[in-house]
Amino acid sequence: MRPELEPGHVAVVTGGARGIGLAVVEALGARGVGVLCVDHPDADTSAFVAACEAAGVAHAVASLDVRDRDAVRAGVATAADLGPVAYAVNCAGVDGLHPASGMTADEWRRVVQVDLDGVMFACQAEHDLLAGRGGSIVNIASMSGHVVNRGVTHAAYSAAKAGVIHLGRSLAVEWAPLGIRVNSVSPGYTMTAMTATNPPEVNAGFAAQTPMGRLAEVEEVAEPVVFLLGRRASFVTGTDLLVDGGFTAW
Ligand SMILES: NC(=O)c1ccc[n+]([C@@H]2O[C@H](COP(=O)([O-])OP(=O)(O)OC[C@H]3O[C@@H](n4cnc5c(N)ncnc54)[C@H](O)[C@@H]3O)[C@@H](O)[C@H]2O)c1
Repeated sequence: MRPELEPGHVAVVTGGARGIGLAVVEALGARGVGVLCVDHPDADTSAFVAACEAAGVAHAVASLDVRDRDAVRAGVATAADLGPVAYAVNCAGVDGLHPASGMTADEWRRVVQVDLDGVMFACQAEHDLLAGRGGSIVNIASMSGHVVNRGVTHAAYSAAKAGVIHLGRSLAVEWAPLGIRVNSVSPGYTMTAMTATNPPEVNAGFAAQTPMGRLAEVEEVAEPVVFLLGRRASFVTGTDLLVDGGFTAW
């Protein structure tokens, strides 16, 4: 039986330095897939390098800000130096907690430009790599793109994530004739740096709001990403997969 992902092929992973992105890198490495990590110049990419070395897969880092379209285009293009590019996972993202009424223009733009513009720019650059032979893109959205989180004031984040989900549908339709599938995964609360800095009672509250009674581990988000990237999802495009422990079900 052919493997679900092609060993020796290459993936672009934005935000691959840590958190969900790093778990995706590890899941790809375990399947013999090389990775270009696209992450912010301030990001510590040592865990990414260690993961790829342990897996024995081709790897490189493109240090850039995903808000810079030209930099994204040039950086993502370097993935082709590692081998045939077949996959992309766009994880880079930021949150921002501000009541909507007083949110400044700068704070609105910071979140929307990283979380929505950044995904669009990455998808455009990845399209250019995949258009010849086809491939699969997974964008990391959020359950916050589906529902409003109780007690959490992050309207810019929620709006950007809803945008990521619908952007994925739009790109899926435009790029289906090129053999490029585009889907998104919408995690619920997940244990990463984004949530680890919360006071314990805040994460306890998130767990209590989740039918499964806990936050997700990053591997529990990475494996559904691999499913959507791979051949078992060969007729799946333009969809969003909620990975939220049932959060949005009640
Ligand atoms: N952790 C959660 O509970 C949760 C829930 C739902 C969705 N998500 C989404 O999952 C994705 C990954 O989140 P995480 O929890 O692993 O976060 P994280 O903060 O651990 O990792 C985010 C990564 O994105 C990179 N990044 C941030 N801004 C960037 C920029 N401007 N340019 C380039 N890289 C940039 C960071 O350097 C970091 O490596 C995000 O899109 C986030 O919105 C997270």
